[in-house]
Amino acid sequence: MDNLKKNLLITGTTSGIGYALAKRFAAEGYGLVLVSRNKDKLNKQKKELELYNNVMVHVIVKDLCNENAAEEVYQELQDIGIPIHVLVNNAGFNECGEFANTRIEKETEMIRLHVITLTQLTKLFLPNMINNGWGHILNVGSTGSYAPFPINAVYAASKAYVLNFSLALRTELKGKNVNVTTLTPGATRTLFAEKANMSNTVLFSYFVMSPDKVAGKAIRGMFKNKAIVIPGLYNKVLVLFMKIVPYAILQRISPLFYKETNNKIDF
Ligand SMILES: NC(=O)c1ccc[n+]([C@@H]2O[C@H](COP(=O)([O-])OP(=O)(O)OC[C@H]3O[C@@H](n4cnc5c(N)ncnc54)[C@H](OP(=O)(O)O)[C@@H]3O)[C@@H](O)[C@H]2O)c1
Repeated sequence: MDNLKKNLLITGTTSGIGYALAKRFAAEGYGLVLVSRNKDKLNKQKKELELYNNVMVHVIVKDLCNENAAEEVYQELQDIGIPIHVLVNNAGFNECGEFANTRIEKETEMIRLHVITLTQLTKLFLPNMINNGWGHILNVGSTGSYAPFPINAVYAASKAYVLNFSLALRTELKGKNVNVTTLTPGATRTLFAEKANMSNTVLFSYFVMSPDKVAGKAIRGMFKNKAIVIPGLYNKVLVLFMKIVPYAILQRISPLFYKETNNKIDF
């Protein structure tokens, strides 16, 4: 398998962590299938990435919140004969706020994208990896995967699904040479916070990482077959804190992350 050209499907590449991952995988020589909604950005990225390392880039314009999206993506690749060896479920977004005030339409879409489409894509592309005796699945969770988060209840719960599903699947696949890694980034400088109106919160004002650093650590971790990649020391400490501090205390601290501030410290 090592000598064959390998293809990677990655969702959510039109900005942020997804695009940083796509550039790094292109540099490794992977053929790329990029899936997002924004057609113009996808076509621009196709040109950039093809020039970058002369790799095959196929784009699929798709709203992954739609019911049949995963099946349609799979079928299109079957029809044109592009096998997938690495699957990166990265696309995601946030709808932040107290549950009583947030929009159920956005939350329903979020559950579709983070939970249902991610599960369906994994179900569809896994058999080929098992048959080949080689494959990687990289699922993007969050530091929010590790605990309930008041003010971000649905997002954190959907990302807890990503982590728990991925860890269980990883165990089931032991011995098949198909590895599942979960990336759990903390605050990262992408369009994510702006879209969710969270740019001025404490969470996005201190120790915000660059998407390129996050992508670098994700890919190194994935190729080392790590179960979980937590990029950055601050995020590692944060996750450790969430694991050892009882929820009775955590529930009082976590809403502070969503308070507004004008201070900024990056790392
Ligand atoms: N940034 C952070 O602080 C942070 C922290 C923890 C975890 N994460 C996770 O990291 C992942 C990437 O987020 P990011 O920070 O890179 O955010 P981003 O810059 O907003 O990028 C999100 C990507 O997802 C795509 N996407 C969103 N909804 C989609 C849909 N319905 N169908 C298809 N594609 C869709 C967007 O493309 P289109 O709009 O073109 O469709 C875009 O390419 C997400 O899973 C997020 O939850 C981010």
